[in-house]
Amino acid sequence: MIPNSGIDLLQAKGYEVMVSPENRVLAKSELIDFLKKDQYDAVLCLLTDKIDADVLDAAGKQCKIFANYAVGFDNVDLKTAADRGVMITNTPGVLTDSVAEHAVALMLSVAHRIPESDRFTRAGKYHGWEPMLLLGHDMSHKVLGIVGLGRIGSRVAHIAAAGFGMKILYYDVKRAESFEQEFPVADNGAPQVEFRENPDMIFEQADVVSIHVPLLPTTRHMVDARKLGLMKKTAYLINTSRGPIVDEVALVEALKNGTPHGAALDVYENEPALAPGLADLENVVLTPHTASGTEETRQAMSVLAAQNIIEALEGRIPPNVVKI
Ligand code: GLV
Ligand code: GLV
Repeated sequence: MIPNSGIDLLQAKGYEVMVSPENRVLAKSELIDFLKKDQYDAVLCLLTDKIDADVLDAAGKQCKIFANYAVGFDNVDLKTAADRGVMITNTPGVLTDSVAEHAVALMLSVAHRIPESDRFTRAGKYHGWEPMLLLGHDMSHKVLGIVGLGRIGSRVAHIAAAGFGMKILYYDVKRAESFEQEFPVADNGAPQVEFRENPDMIFEQADVVSIHVPLLPTTRHMVDARKLGLMKKTAYLINTSRGPIVDEVALVEALKNGTPHGAALDVYENEPALAPGLADLENVVLTPHTASGTEETRQAMSVLAAQNIIEALEGRIPPNVVKI
């Protein structure tokens, strides 16, 4: 189920919309059965739907577009879709604020030990104020490392710099001078933002590393045991991008050994499963892939996916076509 806003828009344009009756992740065979039931001109799919050759075939030749209800599109076989002339679109932009807020919320939650403190308090363990009770770490004026400077990574950098005076280090495939110029230069001339050409340097130097790269063959397990081993003992890892970018088993091992100090994750390597031992650790904060899960954003994603479909079906190029 998705918010009705996009479905309403499609219906107002006169399109007939068939919604899968199941409010859960469909198995591939169920998805194929659903697609074979009728002749669809367009499919609005979720990030949990693996859109491969079999699924594209099931949708048939009449289907012009698969509009993915997500900014990420690693669930779609773009090459096969292109070979069959099927357009693929995503929903960028509308979820940038929501995901960036969530990344910052995770950073503060793990550094201030909010969920752990909440568990402690609810369990009736709070017996009076203590100077040394559940001490966390300030984020103000610390160094935030951004791995992947897309819309979301940039937004996280701005919130952290403006809100907490954090120094920003960023890695991307190329340096973005215009992004650096968006930040004021300190009185002493020290830049608030600096590029690092090797992600290793981010892992070595940052107090918090926040991951914002898409999942690609080149980014799978980008955060492995070696990179985790480069991190400061006091550092935190935040991941709101895609689970397989982090070697989750290696992360559990690293956290057990005390470096990094903590982690906060919204995405998992084998969703919805968690790596063994992950949920037993106190120094992790875990959310169920809900970084874009606000009322505002999920409505806006629904509308944007519908707009992409309408443009495609009316013979125009949709605003968010994903290119190979
Ligand atoms: C969510 O993970 C998205 O890609 O939109
Ligand atoms: C995703 O929208 C990104 O560019 O970070």
